[in-house]
Amino acid sequence: MVDQADALVFFGATGDLAYKKIFPSLQSMIRHGRLNMPVIGVAKQGWNLEQFKARAKASLEEHGGGADPEALKKLFSLLKYVDGDYKSPETFQELRRTLDGAKHPMHYLAIPPSMFATVGEGLAKSQCNQGARIVVEKPFGRSLASARELNATLREYFPEDAIFRIDHYLGKEPVQSLLYSRFANAVLEPLWNRNYVGSVQITMAETIGVLGRGRFYEEAGAIRDVLQNHMMQLIACLTMEPPAGEGEPLRDERAKALTLVRTLTPADVVRGQFAGYREEKGVAKDSTVETFVAARLFIDSWRWAGVPFYLRVGKCLPVSCTEIIVDFKKPPQRVFREANAGRPNHIRFRVSPEVVLAMGVRVKKIGEALEGTSVELIAQRHPHDEMEPYERLLLDAAAGKSDFFAREDQVEEAWRIVDPILGNATPVESYAPGTWGPTQGQSLLTDGSTWHDPRDEPEDPDA
Ligand code: BG6
Repeated sequence: MVDQADALVFFGATGDLAYKKIFPSLQSMIRHGRLNMPVIGVAKQGWNLEQFKARAKASLEEHGGGADPEALKKLFSLLKYVDGDYKSPETFQELRRTLDGAKHPMHYLAIPPSMFATVGEGLAKSQCNQGARIVVEKPFGRSLASARELNATLREYFPEDAIFRIDHYLGKEPVQSLLYSRFANAVLEPLWNRNYVGSVQITMAETIGVLGRGRFYEEAGAIRDVLQNHMMQLIACLTMEPPAGEGEPLRDERAKALTLVRTLTPADVVRGQFAGYREEKGVAKDSTVETFVAARLFIDSWRWAGVPFYLRVGKCLPVSCTEIIVDFKKPPQRVFREANAGRPNHIRFRVSPEVVLAMGVRVKKIGEALEGTSVELIAQRHPHDEMEPYERLLLDAAAGKSDFFAREDQVEEAWRIVDPILGNATPVESYAPGTWGPTQGQSLLTDGSTWHDPRDEPEDPDA
């Protein structure tokens, strides 16, 4: 029996992540009747509790769909605030007093990874790590070597089962729905392998640019920002073997899936940068950081040998959408003489902006000729995620449920896959904003397929 957390502490409480994601999630938890523990913000801002509350209210107004008066009242009754330097033992003594005897605090580090060691040490020396859980955010390292160092640092102060690494993609409804559909149906399993699947594509497209986060983005780029984490989680969920059950077996299989992914080489990758990126605030005039990346990867397993997985992520693309397409092979014999046999079968998982699970099939057109058309059977469509990923993940972490958190070995495997393509291992090609990235991306598709560009979905008639 895992203990329920009895206090939520978040470091970096006056920062961007707290403002955009954490306060709105807290409001949502309150609305769902799920937040009953003290919430302690820690930051070095010279603030008092009243200023902190004002920040929470502003966050809800800007990012939480408005401050709900009832929820805000409850939130204010739970909020506490500790102001101080993370390097100073007094800050942690004050935190200990504020924890007021809590036995299982959950410490959320919404701070740069360079501060993890300092905060970990402060928590340990003040014994605030006793019986505690720690929640950390990506970026989890900048390379394989730095991820290993970071893991070692955290492990000095917390056991692995007390460390919850957030990849918010794992908290998304459609990603959990993808896992569910894979293992709650028997009809997919016989098809889910190299005998039937021709290729797989994943596109994560965003119309937004870097939104004033130029300085952050210069340190990251699309490979570190999303390919290494969100995309690798999708690959793991799509390709893993059936787990023995929920809980740790789910993490075992996701981690194992990544061990079988072949390490990328420069020949597998095309990097792009949207025209105008170098004029963004905080971006170097000669920056070679990528805002787009396309990659082709292979999985050396019995199930997936020889099946290409094509990935694309980018900013300033024509639509905002994340979509997975599993393309099945053509029928082995061409029975009908129709001029256009169309696209073979596929399964489409749309991860955002809405949840869609659809299967593409050929059906005969009504009429004399034996000719067909492609249609999609929609198994599930929902306009949006009912629960924000952060709310779901914070509730899971509070309950000690780690199914949808990244484990140390999995994070390191994901870095191992991208390590050789980081930095300037490949040239960066310019692309015009509003296009699907540099044309060179087409050359990665070596099996005769073309990129499936996601389109805006028609309105859901049942919504
Ligand atoms: C974040 C990246 O992890 O994910 C951002 O840092 C990106 O650059 C974001 O925009 C996308 O998340 P979502 O949930 O909007 O698809």
